[in-house]
Amino acid sequence: MLPLPRILLVSLFLLLTSAENTSFYFPFFTVRNLTLLGDSHLKNGGLIGLTREIGVPSSSSGSLIYENPIRFFDQESNITASFSTSFSFSISNLNPTSFGDGLTFFLSSDNLTLGSPGGYLGLVNSSQPTKARFLAVEFDSKLDTEFNDPNGNHVGLDINELDSIITADALLQNIDLKSGDLITAWIDYKNDLRVLNVFLSYSTVKPPTPLLSLEIDLSHYLKDDMFVGFSASTEGSTEVHLIYNWSFRTFGFLPVRSRSHPHNVSDSSVSAITGIPVSNSTKKHHKRFGLGLGIAGPAFFFVVLAVFGYVSVKKWKGMKVEKCLKAEILTGPREFSYKELYAATRGFHSSRIIGRGAFGNVYKAVFFSSGAIGAVKRSKHSHEGKTEFLAELSIIAGLRHKNLVQLQGWCAEKGELLLVYDFMPNGSLDKLLHPEPENGILLTWSHRQNIAIGLASVLAYLHQECEQQVIHRDIKTSNIMLDGNFNPRLGDFGLARLMDHDKSPVSTLTAGTMGYLAPEYLQYGKATEKTDVFSYGVVILEVACGRRPIERELNSQKMVNLVDWVWGLYGLGKIIEAADKRLNGAFKEQDMRKLLLVGLSCAHPDSAERPSIRRVLQILNNEADPIPVPKMKPSLTFSCSLTVEDLVSDDEESKTTA
Ligand SMILES: *[C@@H]1O[C@H](CO)[C@@H](O)[C@H](O)[C@H]1NC(C)=O
Ligand SMILES: *[C@@H]1O[C@H](CO)[C@@H](O)[C@H](O)[C@H]1NC(C)=O
Ligand SMILES: *[C@@H]1O[C@H](CO)[C@@H](O)[C@H](O)[C@H]1NC(C)=O
Ligand SMILES: *[C@@H]1O[C@H](CO)[C@@H](O)[C@H](O)[C@H]1NC(C)=O
Ligand SMILES: *[C@@H]1O[C@H](CO)[C@@H](O)[C@H](O)[C@H]1NC(C)=O
Ligand SMILES: *[C@@H]1O[C@H](CO)[C@@H](O)[C@H](O)[C@H]1NC(C)=O
Ligand SMILES: *[C@@H]1O[C@H](CO)[C@@H](O)[C@H](O)[C@H]1NC(C)=O
Ligand SMILES: *[C@@H]1O[C@H](CO)[C@@H](O)[C@H](O)[C@H]1NC(C)=O
Repeated sequence: MLPLPRILLVSLFLLLTSAENTSFYFPFFTVRNLTLLGDSHLKNGGLIGLTREIGVPSSSSGSLIYENPIRFFDQESNITASFSTSFSFSISNLNPTSFGDGLTFFLSSDNLTLGSPGGYLGLVNSSQPTKARFLAVEFDSKLDTEFNDPNGNHVGLDINELDSIITADALLQNIDLKSGDLITAWIDYKNDLRVLNVFLSYSTVKPPTPLLSLEIDLSHYLKDDMFVGFSASTEGSTEVHLIYNWSFRTFGFLPVRSRSHPHNVSDSSVSAITGIPVSNSTKKHHKRFGLGLGIAGPAFFFVVLAVFGYVSVKKWKGMKVEKCLKAEILTGPREFSYKELYAATRGFHSSRIIGRGAFGNVYKAVFFSSGAIGAVKRSKHSHEGKTEFLAELSIIAGLRHKNLVQLQGWCAEKGELLLVYDFMPNGSLDKLLHPEPENGILLTWSHRQNIAIGLASVLAYLHQECEQQVIHRDIKTSNIMLDGNFNPRLGDFGLARLMDHDKSPVSTLTAGTMGYLAPEYLQYGKATEKTDVFSYGVVILEVACGRRPIERELNSQKMVNLVDWVWGLYGLGKIIEAADKRLNGAFKEQDMRKLLLVGLSCAHPDSAERPSIRRVLQILNNEADPIPVPKMKPSLTFSCSLTVEDLVSDDEESKTTA
C-alpha cells in the first residue's frame, strides 16, 4: 500500500507522459535513468565506457540504454515522430596495433539482451544474428568482411542486421574514428521528408553537410515503443569506447490539446493543466533544459501537486475508501483531522511551541485519546510555504530509516497544511552541543560517536539506497534531533529536492546556513551529494569540538571558521587539542583523531577530494582505511577539477561568468 503522496506523484507522471515529444539531455552521466549492460560502466567525470578498459587485448561488449521506452508512433493521429540526437564520443586504443570493433547508436525493441563481442558490435547475438529488431548507426573501426564492410573507418546504417544498407567513409570528412580525439555525431531523421542524415565532426559545431544522407521511410520500423542507446564491442583488442554526453529528442507529435479524444478527467482544473507542454522549453536550447526544470519545473510541479492534493484528498474522502486508509494507518503516515491536532496542541498555543522553522512553528502535541506525543509542524500561510510543505510531505512519506525523524501523518484542512512527526524528547543537537548555562546535559563521547555514525548511515540511505536519490541540502545541527536514547534523527526536509541528474536544483542560497555550505555550493548554487558531505563534515567537527561552525574569537571581533581552525591545529600536529574541552579528555585519543580527520576530509574545499558518505561510514565502522588529509588546507582551484563542468553545465548564467 502506497502512502497517499506517492499515489499523487504517480498519477501526476502518468498525466504528463501521454503521446508527447520526448526530450532528454545528459551533459554527463550518472547511474540514474540508464540501463548498463555487459561491460559498460560509469567512469569518473560522468563518462560511460562501453567496453572493458585493460591494457591487454580482450573481447568485450557493452551497452548503455536510456531506461524508458520511447514512443515513436502516435496511434490516434497516425503520426510517426521524427527524431534527432547528438553525442560526443571517442574511440582510442591502448595498444595502437590492436584495434576494433567500434560503437553504434541504436533504436531497439529490446532493453534486456546484450549482443556478442567482435563484429557483432554488442548489438546482436552471434548465434542468432537477426533476432532483435533494431535500427543502428554504426561507427565501425574494423573491417569485417563477414558484414561486407568497406574499410576499418566507416559510418553505416544497419536495420535488423549488421550488413549495412549504406556506408560512408569517415575519411571523406577527414575523420579518423579511432584517433582517440573527441568526435561529435548528429543523427537526424525527419519523418515528413523521409530523410536520415548523419553528421560527424571533431568540433562541437554541426558541419553544414552530412557525411551520410539517405532517403528512407523509417515509419515501418518505428511502430512500437523502442529503447535508444549505444553499444560497442572489442574482439581480442584494447579499444576503448567512451560516451561523453548525449541529447535526444523526438518531435512532430501534435499537441495534446488538439487530439480528437482529450483525456477524460472529471476535474476541469486538471484537464486544463494537461495542455501545458512541459517539454516545450526543451526545444529552445539544450542548456535551457536544466534551468527550465530547475525553476519552472518544480514550481509548476508543486502547483499541480497542490491542486491534486486537495482534489484527491477530497475525492478520497468522498469515495470512502476506508479500507485503503485503514491499511495506511498500519503501514505509513495517516491523515489527521484538524480538530484532533487543534485539541492536541491546545489550539496551537504559544506555550506549546518547541521550535521555529524556516516556514513555520513546531508544536508539541499530546493526543488525549491515545496518550501519544507528537510534534506538529504548521506552515505559515504563504503560498511558498505550502509548496515547500508539500515537497517535504511527498519526499518524507516514502522514506524509512531509523535515523530519520519519522512522519506520522498530515492534515490538509482549513487552508492549512500540518505535518505530524515523532516527538523527540531531547530536542535538537545544536541545543545540546551549545547549551545555555542552566542546561546541564553534556553529550558523552560515545553519544557523539553514535551521532556521527547514525548520521552517516542515514545520509548513505538518502544518497544511495532509497528509491529516488535525496539530497538533503540543509544538514546542520539544528536539523538533527535526538531521540530518547540520544540517537540522531535527521529532520527538516523542507529544502530537500528529489535529485534528477540533469535537473539543476537552482538553489535558494538564503536557505542554508553559511558555515555548513560547501564553497562550490556558495559559488554555483548547485547542491550535490558532495555538498551534503561537506555539511556532514562540518557537523561532525562541531560534534567533536563543541564549537559552532563560525564563532567569534574570545575577546576580539575576529570570526573563526571551524574547519580552518581544526585544519590549523592539524598542521601544527596538535589536532587533539581541537577536542571539546568539556569532555575532560574522556575519550580514546585515536578515535577522536579519526573523527576529526574524517570531518576534515569531508570538508575538503575540492569536492572531488571528499569521500562518498558510504566510505565515511566504512571508515567510522573500521571497515575502511581513513582518507589521507593534507597538512595544509588546500586552497580552492576550480580549474582542474571535472566537477566544475558538472556544476556549471546546466546553468547558463554561471557558465558565462565562470
Ligand atoms: C530520470 O528518472 C527520474 C525518476 O527516477 C525522472 O523523474 C526523470 O524525469 C528522469 N530524467 C530523464 C532525463 O529522463
Ligand atoms: C497512416 O499514415 C500512413 C502514411 O503515413 C498511411 O499510409 C496510412 O493509410 C494511414 N493510416 C490511417 C489509418 O490513416
Ligand atoms: C526494460 O524495459 C522495461 C519496460 O520499460 C522495464 O520494466 C525493465 O525494467 C527494463 N529492463 C532493464 C534491464 O532496464
Ligand atoms: C547468445 O544466445 C545464446 C542462446 O540464447 C546464449 O546462450 C548466449 O549467451 C548469447 N550470447 C551472448 C553474447 O549474449
Ligand atoms: C560534450 O562533451 C565534450 C567533452 O567534454 C564537450 O567538449 C562538449 O561541448 C559537450 N557537448 C555538449 C553538447 O554538452
Ligand atoms: C511536438 O513537437 C512539435 C514540433 O515539431 C510541436 O509542434 C508539437 O506541438 C509538439 N507536441 C507536443 C505534444 O508537445
Ligand atoms: C468522457 O466521459 C463521459 C462520461 O463518462 C462520456 O460521456 C464522454 O463520452 C467521455 N468523453 C470522451 C472524449 O471520451
Ligand atoms: C510550444 O512551442 C510551439 C512551437 O515552438 C509554440 O507554437 C507554442 O506556442 C509553444 N507553447 C507554449 C505554451 O509555449
